[in-house]
Amino acid sequence: MMTNFKKKILITGGAGFIGSHVIRLFVNKYPDYHIINLDKLTYAGNLANLKDIETKPNYTFVKGDIVDGNFMADLFNKHTIDGVIHLAAESHVDRSIANPMEFIMTNIVGTVNLLNAAKSSWKDNFSNKRFYHISTDEVYGSLSNEGFFTESTSYSPNSPYSASKASSDHLVRAYYHTYQLPIVISNCSNNYGSHQFPEKLIPLMIHNIKNNKPLPVYGKGENIRDWLFVEDHASAIDIIFHKGKVAETYNIGGNNELKNIDLIYLLCSLMDKKLHKPKDSSMKLITYVKDRAGHDLRYAIDSSKLQKELGWQPSLKFEEGLEKTVDWYLANEKWLNEVTSGAYQNYYTNQYEKR
Ligand code: NAD
Ligand code: DAU
Repeated sequence: MMTNFKKKILITGGAGFIGSHVIRLFVNKYPDYHIINLDKLTYAGNLANLKDIETKPNYTFVKGDIVDGNFMADLFNKHTIDGVIHLAAESHVDRSIANPMEFIMTNIVGTVNLLNAAKSSWKDNFSNKRFYHISTDEVYGSLSNEGFFTESTSYSPNSPYSASKASSDHLVRAYYHTYQLPIVISNCSNNYGSHQFPEKLIPLMIHNIKNNKPLPVYGKGENIRDWLFVEDHASAIDIIFHKGKVAETYNIGGNNELKNIDLIYLLCSLMDKKLHKPKDSSMKLITYVKDRAGHDLRYAIDSSKLQKELGWQPSLKFEEGLEKTVDWYLANEKWLNEVTSGAYQNYYTNQYEKR
């Protein structure tokens, strides 16, 4: 077993949707890096997402809460961490409307704890260190039918979720300007792909179509999102972590705008085909429901800076990515059943605590 790793990278939120893809990419691509996954395992954290890499010699899982400042300081004392990729967050807009405080604690207080732990353990000697904060396009607010978010668009968050992410972005930036902590930030559009918790639009619709349940469309279904395949977000994170300039922000997007209702039509016809149902039968499940409070109309990202300066390109066309995603959920019925029944929450106990 290799013990002299070239770098030790702390990835927070690695048991979640995007985090698990980032962990998988880094653990497999960089066998000479030691990857530490710090995750609280909230309802959104699922270690079954990482089954395929959990025994790799360059991977360690640590259960912990970024809101606990002492715990974070201890973790940094125990390990000589060279870089942080910070994904841990409360991430679902509807939950932030129902219960904002969790979002304030994890997304704002948790981020400051992490900044403080990094800053003090690095003792203001920041050479070869990096603190990479993963954020969202929602910090820019809502677009009308024209224009794109660029890195210089003013922040105008509209939900408790996006306001908490905007706040964390500002704090991360402030730690550069005040203390010269070597930070980098990226703001990404809506991700889709395997292992996404079925409270978010695409996996929720797949699950409900499969189970012949109503497909709840908020408002008129006219809201527009810019969809990016999650593995393309992970590849952008890899590039920005290694090549992004300190103190810069990079927008990441799929250049792939769709009205929610059009996306749901696409999913219905794809699922009819895959499940051998009569044409148009899933569409009958569409049910218009009360709109989300403060629902942003449109997000669209201009990612030309990342493409031109760092050479990133998304690898998949949306139709291919969507089919791959549907195929994954249909082939991984056990994963979906365990998530929807709550059984996945026993995974940590069975895997780690009973050993
Ligand atoms: P997710 O909800 O699937 O996963 C979040 C993870 O963070 C979970 O594993 C959870 O257990 C962990 N976590 C939550 N609170 C924690 C705490 N206090 N301490 C330690 N761990 C904690 O989220 P996701 O969709 O994978 O998003 C990951 C990051 O990417 C977030 O910062 C989110 O704002 C950002 N983002 C998401 C999208 C998207 O479309 N999903 C797009 C752009 C940016
Ligand atoms: O833009 C990036 C953001 O994308 C991330 O920062 C968030 O973490 C992520 O959750 C996502 O936010 P959205 O609110 O855009 O995603 P969600 O899947 O919740 O909703 C997508 C769209 O679909 C949105 O316009 C609301 C609508 N919707 C959603 C659900 C869950 C419905 O019409 N019905 C639903 O049941």
